[in-house]
Amino acid sequence: MARMQPGIAIVAERPEPGLVDRARRLSGELSLPLTSAGEPGYDLHLVVTTRRLELREAGSRTGPVYADFCRPRSVSRRQVSALARDPLIRAIGLKAKPWHVVDATAGLGRNAVLLAWAGCSVTAIERSPAIAALLGDGLRRAMEDPQMQPVVADRLHLVRGDAREVLAEMADDEQPDAVYMDPMFPHRAKSAASKKEMRLCRLVAGDDTDAAELFTIARRTARHRVVVKRWLRAPPLAPDPAIQYKGRSIRYDVYLRG
Ligand SMILES: C[S@@+](CC[C@H](N)C(=O)[O-])C[C@H]1O[C@@H](n2cnc3c(N)ncnc32)[C@H](O)[C@@H]1O
Repeated sequence: MARMQPGIAIVAERPEPGLVDRARRLSGELSLPLTSAGEPGYDLHLVVTTRRLELREAGSRTGPVYADFCRPRSVSRRQVSALARDPLIRAIGLKAKPWHVVDATAGLGRNAVLLAWAGCSVTAIERSPAIAALLGDGLRRAMEDPQMQPVVADRLHLVRGDAREVLAEMADDEQPDAVYMDPMFPHRAKSAASKKEMRLCRLVAGDDTDAAELFTIARRTARHRVVVKRWLRAPPLAPDPAIQYKGRSIRYDVYLRG
């Protein structure tokens, strides 16, 4: 079951009929209350603006969090020239195309988009309705960007739901080559921007205390490998990863199908 944290409401940035109608529709789709800007009572707001959907902390001066794959300095573009050397791409073991990867913890989609850039066919699963809405909005805008459109349209599919259920229900001929997991874990983010993003997403989604159960199901479902992202010095989620790929602050543990 998707978990819903209390304290989130949908807000239209301005009281314009178009924005208010979209906010009302989203409130129905996500079963989250609709409120007005400046109204007290909620810690977090999902704000419908003319340009995009944003997550904002009520009463805070820190800027909004949103999914964005179109900025010139977005992770996907910065890393695309160095894809072959990227530890995630090496860990995922792209052998043949299409290489079907399930990103079982999609979040705001940075890793899912990077995998799609590298040529994987990605099923991105996110169980928090609010975070899935932010990701869906980022993908919608990416569809309007000429460079991103083919990557997103042809190779990335967002599924709203719990990956434990989605994976368990996959028929044999749908099983992915690899499953990737990046559960919420105590994190020393490098930049202030990723710290803010991680903190707000954790407020929405909570800690992923059931990651071990997801891992067990992922191992039964992946044809070739399961890849788990960890902080560099954190213990592995499960014993004896076959291979480890290390970045500067994080590590990818690879478990091969025996
Ligand atoms: C640390 S974030 C992932 C960040 C992501 N890798 C990225 O590149 O943006 C973890 C996310 O996984 C989601 N999640 C955790 N367990 C899940 C599950 N069993 N099914 C679907 N989503 C899950 C959480 O709701 C949260 O949004």
